Amino acid sequence: MVFYFSGTGNSQFVAKEISEHIQDEIVSINRLLKKNEAGEFRSETPLVFVTPTYAWRIPKIVEKWLSKAKFHGNKNAYFTLTCGDSVGDAAFHAKKLCEENGLIFRGLAPVIMPENYLALFSTPEKDECQKIVEKAKPLAEVLARLIEKGEDFPAQSISIKDKVLSGIINDIYYPLIVKDKGFYANDKCISCGECEEVCPINNIKIVSEKPKWHGDCTHCMACIARCPTEAIEYKKASKGRRRHYIMED
Ligand SMILES: Cc1cc2nc3c(=O)[nH]c(=O)nc-3n(C[C@H](O)[C@H](O)[C@H](O)COP(=O)(O)O)c2cc1C
Ligand code: SF4
Ligand code: SF4
Repeated sequence: MVFYFSGTGNSQFVAKEISEHIQDEIVSINRLLKKNEAGEFRSETPLVFVTPTYAWRIPKIVEKWLSKAKFHGNKNAYFTLTCGDSVGDAAFHAKKLCEENGLIFRGLAPVIMPENYLALFSTPEKDECQKIVEKAKPLAEVLARLIEKGEDFPAQSISIKDKVLSGIINDIYYPLIVKDKGFYANDKCISCGECEEVCPINNIKIVSEKPKWHGDCTHCMACIARCPTEAIEYKKASKGRRRHYIMED
């Protein structure tokens, strides 16, 4: 059973590639979070979790969901983290999460996909994004074959820097950076409600024809990247930056 969480579609894309290769069911964690459901699952096949990397780790929102969800049957858990650059020592924390939740950790593999964090960084141009996505496809197939054969994902070599990034920096990052105060919609807003719809954690409500953010954001970038008129900005940082969004319904 392949589970994915995705803000802008990269992890959904990789999850779909893997699920097609191993011909297994695919489950959207976004949908479960939107309904405020943890869920109970029975799977005869391994559990495959595909998520973006947030501050060199699985997103906290997914860690929280995983600790509440119930899994019956096959307990083998594989993790694939899409990232713009590096996952640090995300594997250590994913393994710990498995131990706490009665799952058997079978490895964590990074897959480079287009950077989507337009609140902080530039995103690649469209052509560049396409090249990155094309390169990710064969890697998704390699990972799918390992899952099929019941082999572990190969362990990555980890430096002290990786440990620091996924440890203390991740701890500091959430309270310091992950806030929605910087988001606003300008006059280009047509009150379509798309931002409210795509927010996986229902943090946006349209009030007086404009989106209002309610202080429970996970910085997934879905709202800002999906707005059809590019009316949403994050402080001054997002101005002029390309919106990367490949999520399918
Ligand atoms: C909040 C946030 C934090 C991120 N942190 C990292 C990171 O630590 N390392 C990295 O390589 N990419 C990082 N990225 C980039 C994303 O992990 C990457 O673009 C991912 O493929 C997005 O997946 P999605 O489209 O499924 O949401 C971050 C992006 C966001 C929005
Ligand atoms: S998606 Fe954009 S246009 Fe639609 S309501 Fe939100 S801000 Fe306005
Ligand atoms: S408010 Fe926007 S960035 Fe924050 S969680 Fe919702 S969709 Fe993602």
